Amino acid sequence: MFAISLGEGAELRPIEPWQAEEFLAHVDRAREYAGPWVPLTVLAKDLDSARERLQVFADKQAADTGRLYGIWLDGTLVGGVLFRIFDTATESCEVGVWLEPSAAGRGLITRASRVLIDWAVDERGMHRVEWLVSSANARSKAVAERLGMTKDGVLRESFPWQGVRHDMEVWSVLAPEWRKAREAREAAGGAGSAAR
Ligand SMILES: CC(C)(COP(=O)(O)OP(=O)(O)OC[C@H]1O[C@@H](n2cnc3c(N)ncnc32)[C@H](O)[C@@H]1OP(=O)(O)O)[C@@H](O)C(=O)NCCC(=O)NCCS
Repeated sequence: MFAISLGEGAELRPIEPWQAEEFLAHVDRAREYAGPWVPLTVLAKDLDSARERLQVFADKQAADTGRLYGIWLDGTLVGGVLFRIFDTATESCEVGVWLEPSAAGRGLITRASRVLIDWAVDERGMHRVEWLVSSANARSKAVAERLGMTKDGVLRESFPWQGVRHDMEVWSVLAPEWRKAREAREAAGGAGSAAR
């Protein structure tokens, strides 16, 4: 019902439990590509568990502790961005992302993440936005860098997933840094350069 344009036929929209069927079809297309890095794309394995995952985020949204949005490309759900953590007490949140492979390489995640971070910083007074990523996940680390985040450190072997204990890198951007980088992007020349 409500959509934010990401350009080039892409939109960011809410995704809710009633859309479980569409969500599951997308996760089926994303599972192999995103599963090694994003538990959500493995935990949603049938209609009930897909609905349950969406309900977890609907509950988080109601409690103002997290949110989940879908990315549609030419009418097909191809990915998502979420606040896994949204803590208004510490003014700190964590963004998570994924795509199905056909939608990669177009800047969709960078643009969608910017929408979320702008909202978190400008509307909700978040001071710190985090990005947790396995050291082995080069594409996700590239997004964190593209977003102007700084690598804070590594939580060594902190995340056991699918038989591997991942070193998890913590990246972050602080509100003043975000605003400054945004101003610099805008000064450098509008949508083209802003898109990167
Ligand atoms: C992580 C992931 C979402 C990144 O996807 P992505 O497509 O590389 O990221 P973006 O949408 O920001 O697109 C960036 C790519 O599009 C290109 N691009 C094209 N137009 C662009 C634009 N206007 N703006 C920015 N990038 C653009 C960039 O050059 C880059 O391509 P490159 O890596 O070949 O140089 C994706 O690899 C994925 O889903 N992986 C599996 C799940 C996962 O790891 N999630 C993160 C867990 S921490």
